[in-house]
Amino acid sequence: MKLLMAANWKMFKKLDEAALYAKELAKLAQNLPPDREVALFAPFTALRVCADNLGASVALGGQNCYPAAQGAFTGEISPDMLLDCGCSHVLAGHSERRSIFGEDDAFIGKKCAFALSSGLKVLLCIGERLEERDKGLLKTVLERQLSGDLSAVPDTVSDGDLAIAYEPVWAIGTGRVAKAADILEAHAVIRAFLERRFPALGKKMRILYGGSVKPENAAEIIALDNVNGVLVGGASLQIDGFSRIVLAGNA
Ligand code: PGA
Repeated sequence: MKLLMAANWKMFKKLDEAALYAKELAKLAQNLPPDREVALFAPFTALRVCADNLGASVALGGQNCYPAAQGAFTGEISPDMLLDCGCSHVLAGHSERRSIFGEDDAFIGKKCAFALSSGLKVLLCIGERLEERDKGLLKTVLERQLSGDLSAVPDTVSDGDLAIAYEPVWAIGTGRVAKAADILEAHAVIRAFLERRFPALGKKMRILYGGSVKPENAAEIIALDNVNGVLVGGASLQIDGFSRIVLAGNA
């Protein structure tokens, strides 16, 4: 299983900056270490210009989509529209969607199933809040999110079409990266769940870590058991920093 090194730009970058970055990322992707792949989750407005400049070696993804093919959903974007812009991937369940936009597991579950059935690969983000962790609820929260968010996903989903990003909410954008032991514990919970939920394929699905990943800590994180890549927000905004993350630990 290859590592997936993913950038999440969130609500940053206008067209000119996006085009320049995408060109640089495409160059980097020409000489990737054989054990890894790169994905870029860009804002909707930058997707087309990214698709035009990335080339085939970088996967492009939307940061969100609405679970319907088309219709009267003002302000929303369908999976088909993402595919049409050159995307192969989409994020679902990011903690900012959950906390700022009120998305719950039932809605995220519809989104995951609909995006997959439309032909997108889904990177589902889950993670506990600090107060939940402090109450000893890590496993309960992760399993609740996984079971709700994946409830309508067919058992036969391909292992390449679904990946999970473990992003503890207290580590996102805070500079406070989870300790190795915390990451190992959470990823083991997620792996065990995936193996129960998808008996044939759960052991082959990628589990990424996200939350204050930086060039300085990426090598240590991707060396951990059951860590199959990283999802990077703030440190992905500069191509130099993200390039160092993409190549981290590659002697
Ligand atoms: P961060 O964000 O790297 O800025 O902590 C990660 C994410 O939200 O995916």
